[in-house]
Amino acid sequence: MPMKHSTYSVIIVGSGVAGLYAAIKLSQTMNLPDGILILTKSQLSECNSRYAQGGIVGVLPENKPDSISLHVADTIKAGCGLCDFNVVKFVSENSRHAIEDLAKYGVEFDRNEKNELNFTLEGAHSVRRILHVGGDATGYGIEKALVNKVKNDTSISSNITIYEQTLAVDLLVDSKNKCRGLISYNEITKEYETLYAPVTILATGGTGQVYKYTTNPSVTTGDGLALAIRAGAKIKDMEFIQFHPTALCIENDDSRFLISESVRGEGAKLINDKGEYFMESHPQKDLAPRDVVARAIYSQLSRGNKVYLDASAIEISKLKKRFPNIYKSCLDSGVDVTKDYIPVSPAAHYCMGGIKTEINGKTSIENLYAIGEAACTSLHGANRLASNSLLECVVSAYELVNILSKESLQTSNIIDEKIIHTIKKYSDNEIDLLDTENIQSLKNRLKTVMWDNVGIIRTESSLIRANTEIHKIETDFNEKDKCNSIDEYELRNMIYVAKSIINAALDRKESIGAHYRADTIKTKQNNISNTVAAHKEDFADDSKVTA
Ligand code: FAD
Ligand code: SIN
Repeated sequence: MPMKHSTYSVIIVGSGVAGLYAAIKLSQTMNLPDGILILTKSQLSECNSRYAQGGIVGVLPENKPDSISLHVADTIKAGCGLCDFNVVKFVSENSRHAIEDLAKYGVEFDRNEKNELNFTLEGAHSVRRILHVGGDATGYGIEKALVNKVKNDTSISSNITIYEQTLAVDLLVDSKNKCRGLISYNEITKEYETLYAPVTILATGGTGQVYKYTTNPSVTTGDGLALAIRAGAKIKDMEFIQFHPTALCIENDDSRFLISESVRGEGAKLINDKGEYFMESHPQKDLAPRDVVARAIYSQLSRGNKVYLDASAIEISKLKKRFPNIYKSCLDSGVDVTKDYIPVSPAAHYCMGGIKTEINGKTSIENLYAIGEAACTSLHGANRLASNSLLECVVSAYELVNILSKESLQTSNIIDEKIIHTIKKYSDNEIDLLDTENIQSLKNRLKTVMWDNVGIIRTESSLIRANTEIHKIETDFNEKDKCNSIDEYELRNMIYVAKSIINAALDRKESIGAHYRADTIKTKQNNISNTVAAHKEDFADDSKVTA
């Protein structure tokens, strides 16, 4: 076949915190004769991780008011009881190790003048337990340290090959349901390559770009999820899309820069243009769970009110020092957070669902693993507790490397008919070209359909309408075996992702967590107490479990 073929010991798709941390750990702990390949569709550092603001959860012994049980209870409450208790407990117990390890890799968590770690607060956390870097540049700080290791620490980088501007377009799964690698496409050279490996890891991040308004960067089109769906992997919880309550909302500008929940954690309050602090009536006020605050803002906006963040309770010098990035970005948009109210509205932010995995990334397809936001480990349930996702990326990647290091990775040369069939699709030179403008307009149609019909509030009829519209977009796109650009592949993936969100949302008839059905007959309320109560004995010595 004319296509180039290569073999690696491990292929990692994605260079966010999950992918990079896995690559570093693999390189440090395993003897991998064919090396590690990191494949990433843009530059190495471009990903959701890089934009994380609020921080990363650390349940640390020096933080006296905190405990594992308290963090577990907060996570399960935010997730409305749909979390897997054992996963939550495991992740919480491993947070200390994750933080220490990141610090060893050069992540400099913010400290006070006594050199103690600074802990901040976000929605639905009952104590301050969130660590941050550079004030509001946590993701940038972590990503920078990991990129540095992968590129410049020769004890790690010597066994790692990096392909940038390269997209994973299809998985190679044989007729015995074993993943044997993937097909990649380089946007610059326009070349396809067959990449074989005994282990393939999807660390491709979330799905924010299927919505018109999102905090996610343009690379976040749910590719890994679409690849997994095409390959027949099990998918879970796709109806649970988290809408962040406070994204900067400037007239005639569709981009949505995040205003971290930690700004509210430090004292800012939501206010409408009638001067009403409308979260005051909720028991947790402005720090209620994200789904609750997002719906409260949505309800204000639907009534024609404008919504703002009032940060005047935070001292000006603290505001500038603690949130330098937010201060600057708002100023660039004409909003001086030290004087002005910040105009905000909700935006698609995080996908609680994903490729069904264990905490170690194992999927329903042999030799295929998924970690980070692309995966659904059931840590988050129906609504993710803020700052739990960076932690999950690290803990999952660590556990994955742990199980792989106990296996011997065998590269096989035998490929079956099913794999040959997949490879042939991409070695065929004939392709119909769709012009870029057309692709962009189909993407925009899809994003608008999802925002209007599958957003913060859904009904059966809005979901059916979305289904019909997505099918029309699919027909206009006329899916081909082989596409002509990253844009076109992204559109193909976005259609798969949109359909899986709509179908899951149609299947779940009750409102729970981030999935709110206005036509719901019944809202489940008792999951949380059931989940925590069922595991009360796990915390027999701890009085802090508050179900
Ligand atoms: P990502 O970091 O998104 O990385 C995915 C990678 O996969 C990228 O490199 C991408 O280019 C690549 N990729 C995707 N598809 C392909 C393909 N087909 N081929 C090749 N490469 C591909 N979480 C917290 O815990 N704390 C926070 O404070 C926080 N703040 C956030 C703020 C913002 C603005 C956003 C958007 C998210 C925030 N989150 C936060 C969520 C968190 O950042 C993400 O869930 C997490 O970083 C996901 O990491 P990841 O490694 O799984 O994926
Ligand atoms: C934020 O800083 O508000 C985002 C935190 C998160 O998504 O976990």
